[in-house]
Amino acid sequence: MRIDILTLFPAIFRGFLDESLVRLARERGIVEICLWDIRDHTDDKHRKVDDRPYGGGPGMVMMPGPVFAAAEAADAAAQPPARKLLLSPQGRTYTQALARELAAEPRLMLVCGRYEGFDERIPEGLGAEELSIGDYVLAGGEAAAMVVVESVVRLLPGAISDPESAALESFEDGSLDYPQYTRPPVFRGRAVPDVLLSGNHEAIRQWRAERARERTLARRPDLAAAGQAAPL
Ligand code: ADE
Repeated sequence: MRIDILTLFPAIFRGFLDESLVRLARERGIVEICLWDIRDHTDDKHRKVDDRPYGGGPGMVMMPGPVFAAAEAADAAAQPPARKLLLSPQGRTYTQALARELAAEPRLMLVCGRYEGFDERIPEGLGAEELSIGDYVLAGGEAAAMVVVESVVRLLPGAISDPESAALESFEDGSLDYPQYTRPPVFRGRAVPDVLLSGNHEAIRQWRAERARERTLARRPDLAAAGQAAPL
């Protein structure tokens, strides 16, 4: 997969791309990630990328010209044309189901906004979907783009050494994870549940399914009500 990221602040991504899972996936050739500085695609000497909103109001709006120029340059750099996503609190809410859908694409383009938002002709003209990572407002789309990249890259074949671990995780079956424990068996007076030390695999499976269901009901009744929680 190839992912092009358009941003006014490419340096924000450096540590993220050069560490851990994303770094490994890049080194293994599973994903190629290219950063584009939108400011490099301005055509005035002040490298202006934003302006005041027509009709008045606070803040600045990202102008269409530089974003279009950057998107066209990125699209022309490889084939096929990318599926385009604009990170914005106005977007459709991002979910694990959408991460799975995006992981099946050959190419993605993530466009990060700053300021009060985008000129509306940007999503319209680029044919880009707007995507929000949740009901809160960030200073820009960069952190949201990292969320999308990490959640997609870890689904790519070969990115995680134990594919079973991806399949067993929260949301993949519509419920939260069961509680996990490791050594020591007693930590500051709190013991690991006996069943996990019993060696009885069927009892462990049952205990985990019950805890996952309990947790999902208590913490995410919306998920539980959607009827997706795994059967016991
Ligand atoms: N930009 C600002 N807030 C955002 C959010 N919640 N999701 C995606 N992009 C954003």
